[in-house]
Amino acid sequence: MDTPRLVSLDREHLIHPVSSWQGHETNGATILESGKGVWLTDSNGHRLLDGFSGLWCVNTGYGCESVVEAGRRQLEKLPYATGYFGFSNEPAIELAARLTKQAPGHLNHIYFALGGSDAVDSTLRFIRYYQHARGTPEKRHVIGLQKGYHGSSFVGAGLTALPVFHRDADVPLPWQHHIPSPDPYRHPAGPNAEAIIQASVRALHDEIAKIGGPEHVAAFYCELVQGSGGVIVPPAGWASAMQAACRELNILFIVDEVITGFGRTGPLFACEHENIEPDMMTVAKGLTAGYAPMGGVFMSNEIYETIRDKTPAGVAVGHGQTYSAHPVSAAIGLAVLDLYEGGLLENGTRVGKHLATRLAGLGNHPLVGTTRSIGMLAGIELVIDKSAKTKPDPKLGISGKLSRYGYEHGILFRAFGDDVIGLAPPLCSTIAEMDQLCDGLVTVLDRVIADPAVALALKA
Ligand SMILES: Cc1ncc(COP(=O)(O)O)c(C=O)c1O
Repeated sequence: MDTPRLVSLDREHLIHPVSSWQGHETNGATILESGKGVWLTDSNGHRLLDGFSGLWCVNTGYGCESVVEAGRRQLEKLPYATGYFGFSNEPAIELAARLTKQAPGHLNHIYFALGGSDAVDSTLRFIRYYQHARGTPEKRHVIGLQKGYHGSSFVGAGLTALPVFHRDADVPLPWQHHIPSPDPYRHPAGPNAEAIIQASVRALHDEIAKIGGPEHVAAFYCELVQGSGGVIVPPAGWASAMQAACRELNILFIVDEVITGFGRTGPLFACEHENIEPDMMTVAKGLTAGYAPMGGVFMSNEIYETIRDKTPAGVAVGHGQTYSAHPVSAAIGLAVLDLYEGGLLENGTRVGKHLATRLAGLGNHPLVGTTRSIGMLAGIELVIDKSAKTKPDPKLGISGKLSRYGYEHGILFRAFGDDVIGLAPPLCSTIAEMDQLCDGLVTVLDRVIADPAVALALKA
């Protein structure tokens, strides 16, 4: 690989997702070349332990022969099949059947999208069809959580509640609302689980009242662990309480499992922790472990049957994409599901327990305010003053330092802009690899506090 040529062409022509365009031109990109297991190698031959599974997606690790072979075979046999005009394909049918069998509650139907953003976007359209079908079109408002992330389609970016997705984008739209995040570390109600749960339920009721009552509200959306908001793990019992509130208020309860699905928190779906039965559920990422693009919307019998029965015979439900239920992605999804069912979920659960123990130890570091984890998903929140929970001054540039030092020490993790470290290692990781990741993190954090400006801020 001619790295300088590629970096230069990348700078000149390739627009990167959610990036500073000026920063990209100044810094250039790191070009990833190959991967095996939890290890990545870049074009300079530098090896990196991928503690973030790419972008919380390569749950199986890299280079799984069975997945590569499934994709290759499908490419040879039938690389594309439309789902329009009454056509279908074998892998997509098998995948739909296997997934809906394991999905929670009455989620007996699935629409395959291309990734998480268009899966979320699809739910917003399906909600409109559903409300029109049941004769309640005025139920159009939706409510999400502050710090929630639901992708970056135009409409989904408004459901997302992170400032970078709203800036200059004319969202949220007037029918999109947010209630406070159930963040145990920073909730105004304090860390008590019951107090946070009650506050969230009350906030949902209050927001609905502000909008004009449940007859104007279609749905509440949430992630069961808020990923991009900083890996915020709500207290146990929160999801069940929100589901119960939605049922009482007669609004749909929609769960976004784009990150939490496919073993990331232990079981196949995070809904299983509290036997949650959402009305719709979005997935992507671990569905194909990132080996090919694919997302999905699980839909309840009630929503599916209402739209089916109230759409006049012969009239199409006008939502679709050329690559919906793509046969190569579906074949890959089936091979990945075999791995989850063949011991990968158990391994993730076992190694996740070790990761949690190691993270608890990290809590003593001068820069660490709190750590939180569930399965192979974790967050480390950095503060400059532990008792006041003061976030570091952005001028200290801590997230940039973390990424740079992490790279130099051969570990990859997510350094969120607001000084939270995100971890989402592949489920195939070994205990030794998690030790290597955590030891590396300690070294990186020590280097950050050795910086004179950071040291001074810590002392102040
Ligand atoms: C919870 C959640 N929903 C939706 C998305 C969007 O998925 P994609 O990036 O595949 O469009 C993401 C991506 O990180 C996500 O974390």
